[in-house]
Amino acid sequence: MNRSATVERSVTLFRAFRKEQSDPEHFYTVLAADSVDQLAQWARLDGATVLDVGGGPGYFADAFRGAGARYVGLEYDASEMAARGEPEPGTVRGSGEELPIRDGAVDICYSSNVLEHVRRPWVMAAEMVRATKPGGVIYLSYTPWLSPHGGHETAPWHYLGGHRARRRFHRRTGAEAKNRFGESLFAVSVGAGVRWARSCPDVEVLAVLPRYHPWWATWVVRVPGLREVVSWNLLLVLRRR
Ligand SMILES: C[S@@+](CC[C@H](N)C(=O)[O-])C[C@H]1O[C@@H](n2cnc3c(N)ncnc32)[C@H](O)[C@@H]1O
Repeated sequence: MNRSATVERSVTLFRAFRKEQSDPEHFYTVLAADSVDQLAQWARLDGATVLDVGGGPGYFADAFRGAGARYVGLEYDASEMAARGEPEPGTVRGSGEELPIRDGAVDICYSSNVLEHVRRPWVMAAEMVRATKPGGVIYLSYTPWLSPHGGHETAPWHYLGGHRARRRFHRRTGAEAKNRFGESLFAVSVGAGVRWARSCPDVEVLAVLPRYHPWWATWVVRVPGLREVVSWNLLLVLRRR
């Protein structure tokens, strides 16, 4: 149990998250530093090749490079890739569902808040395992559908149904939500993630955590039903066999 996941850390992350829209640089800097700290519990970053699946414009690149890793971003959407100007050097355009990466090529396969945007999430998860070398680490985090933030900008109306929440957002704002239920946002549960990880013969499960919570709240992921709502964000950490 890593006791450095304190309440203060959770408060810092939550404060940064509240400013995601107005100050994305601050939010991503805080989140990237936190991910690097967290990953260091399971993997040596210095000298490691890290593939960031769905890395957008490379928000996490500096933090991984600062820890000595070779960072390779992979992004599906060209406009996301260019959201901060010139994409990070070496960024690969491709889909997490069909990684253009050979088997066992990377030491660490990382993905933050992407799985719920992918139509076939467990295909992407299996691709991440395939791309990781034996002994390497897979870090996979996502927002479960029943989390308070599950509907993204349509929350909390997603609790009444994803399509209804999407229509309501359109009616209210006159614009489509960026994360469109059924197209670029899908209902992924905590239970499905835990079952997938436990049944995957190619990995050892190192951790199942509510990503942003303090260490003493880890137990929530063991309670079916409750975990879907209160985990907020699920983190699976796996070692490739
Ligand atoms: C919410 S953003 C997350 C960005 C960053 N990883 C983070 O933690 O903040 C989701 C990203 O996943 C990308 N994405 C969506 N579908 C994808 C796919 N099939 N393969 C790879 N990336 C995908 C989106 O274009 C977007 O950049």
